[in-house]
Amino acid sequence: MAPQPRAVKLRKEYERYRSSTLNLIPSENVLSPQVLEALASPMAGRYAGRPETYGGSHIFHELWEECEALAERIFNCKASSVAPISGHVAAMMALDAFSRRGDNIGVISASSGGYKGYNEGMIPDVFGFHAVILPFDQAKWNIDLVKSLQIIDTEKPSTVILGGTVFLFPHPVKEISEAVHAYGGRVVFDGSHVLGLIAGGEFQDPLREGADVLLGSTHKTLFGPQGGIILSNDKSIISSIEERYVYRFIDNFHLNRLAALAVALEELRKHKTAYARNIVRNSQSLASELYDHGLPIAGKQEGFTKSHQVFLNYGDAGSSIRDMLESNLIICDSRVRLGTNEVTRRGMGPREMKEIAELVSVGVVKKKSRPVIKSVRDLVSRFKGIKFTLDR
Ligand SMILES: Cc1ncc(COP(=O)(O)O)c(C=O)c1O
Repeated sequence: MAPQPRAVKLRKEYERYRSSTLNLIPSENVLSPQVLEALASPMAGRYAGRPETYGGSHIFHELWEECEALAERIFNCKASSVAPISGHVAAMMALDAFSRRGDNIGVISASSGGYKGYNEGMIPDVFGFHAVILPFDQAKWNIDLVKSLQIIDTEKPSTVILGGTVFLFPHPVKEISEAVHAYGGRVVFDGSHVLGLIAGGEFQDPLREGADVLLGSTHKTLFGPQGGIILSNDKSIISSIEERYVYRFIDNFHLNRLAALAVALEELRKHKTAYARNIVRNSQSLASELYDHGLPIAGKQEGFTKSHQVFLNYGDAGSSIRDMLESNLIICDSRVRLGTNEVTRRGMGPREMKEIAELVSVGVVKKKSRPVIKSVRDLVSRFKGIKFTLDR
């Protein structure tokens, strides 16, 4: 047999390694075999565009419309765009429609859990916006509403972006939307992390609370392929975004991704309530177990979490904690946010959260602990399946 090229070997090695580890990264998820099949389909090499530019694409156009219809049904809204190839691009597309060079935009700072892309030097720099930071109460791990309303009143940001990266509790969308709409501004809710929870009726309902658009990644609690989505009750917002995106942000938007997203949305439609409920229940039990082990869990005042995340606030020591946990086959990021989305999709429940809390509490202090590694391997091997699919 011919030797395998290095690129093929590395891919297989990566997959083997990740499947032997316990994944607690809240920005990731596992994809069902049906979603993976769509992603790996020959559509990955095709083009389509609106208005219909490419021959041979009429069936794909039906699929594209089906994907949008599913999204609108699940999120109970009137219009959607599934064109953005990522959550970051979705946000750029919405900001391009809502704000102009020289405008203020209201954002949450990265140090308070906001998405770094909205902070000074990132997307604001690309567009020539000035990022106005909304004050944040770290003890409550939420926006300081009184101070934020004062800033909004004086700075009048043309767009305010709510939602976040370290995202534990619902944001005050209603109050902020009322203030921003009073002077003609727009509110974007970045639900990248919590779209699967919003679909399932957990967390909050930003479009009904006043946000002009709900947007985000399609691959965190929403278990689709990596990509982005924009949802609104105002059809004119979505059509103005869609009219502007081609050639400004993207040319092709990856047909196989949309085929895979449509399958994932079907899965979500079927299971959204139980899936979202189980995630939040698991986060809350993981957080209280970790707290009992004496770990520095944020958000105690508010009951630790209402989302898929538990935040271990190790500050600047985050990267070394991440590495320590990885030496024990437990995977998280350098913020040390632990996500329950993937383990919930694997079928784990409160009993396993107790077990994970024990493993994490040892794993943060003992490098390459043999008993922890053995228990992680055992836990992972007991939960190889994927729940909340079209078959199960
Ligand atoms: C809140 C938030 N918005 C946007 C993004 C960017 O999403 P994507 O990686 O899909 O571009 C992230 C990244 O994780 C995020 O946490």
